[in-house]
Amino acid sequence: MLLRGKVGLVTGAASGIGRASAIAMAREGASVLLSDIDAKGASAADEIRAEGGRAIFQAADVTDDAQVAGLVALAEREFGGLDVAYNNAGIEGAQAPLEQQDMAGVRKAFDVLITSVYLCLRHEIPALQRRGGGAIVNCGSMWGLNAWPNWSPYITSKHAVSGMTKTAALEQARNNIRINAVAPGPILTPLLLRGWKGDPNNASGRVPMGRIGQPEEVADVVVFLLSERASFVNGHVMPVDGGMMAQTG
Ligand code: NAI
Repeated sequence: MLLRGKVGLVTGAASGIGRASAIAMAREGASVLLSDIDAKGASAADEIRAEGGRAIFQAADVTDDAQVAGLVALAEREFGGLDVAYNNAGIEGAQAPLEQQDMAGVRKAFDVLITSVYLCLRHEIPALQRRGGGAIVNCGSMWGLNAWPNWSPYITSKHAVSGMTKTAALEQARNNIRINAVAPGPILTPLLLRGWKGDPNNASGRVPMGRIGQPEEVADVVVFLLSERASFVNGHVMPVDGGMMAQTG
């Protein structure tokens, strides 16, 4: 088991990639604190416990500093510390040319996609330091490495996640803490279906492998990056994209 005896935190764990990652982490032996703004995340923790794993759920809004601090404190209180974290919660933002975007929506996207990851890092890093080390994975996107028209709130935010991942990785590199990001391509989740107007085929056309991905295919990479198998992998933004980042044009 890749995460035997570890304590993990997953945000955005009610749905999609976060839910699949929390389940995958528990199957690899981690005790997992699942969190989401949506209380439906409790059912994912139920599923883990029904399989014999260790999990609890706490509702929280990851844009709120005190609530994020509370999650880390809860992991330490319930499970004795924090070793690994997957900062995953996200929204897709509105699609329109940059000059036509509504600024309230832009600020909301920055808050949910950028500030939330910053807050998670801010509170998780001291907890990992208290444990003498650990690993964090942020959820970036292939759109944190490249761009596409009309998605500027999302794409700007995901580029920020790439930057804060690398900066934090360098800062913690001597503290036995590795920090990486996954950069998924199109993955079949409610977020993708909302963003692509309900038709996943809208997103699959440009994928070299000719299909979109499943949440479990990202979860497996998250588990790998959190585990000792990735012991010399640090500061990476790792595409999980069916080959999309390898092509031009
Ligand atoms: P999803 O919509 O299935 O899950 C996102 C979860 O985040 C939801 O459960 C939602 O309630 C939660 N959330 C939203 N705002 C929150 C807040 N303020 N506080 C706490 N939780 C909050 O979407 P999906 O696709 O699983 O997204 C997960 C991550 O993957 C996101 O960061 C997204 O940007 C990223 N991603 C997704 C891709 C895709 O094609 N589905 C591609 C690249 C990245």
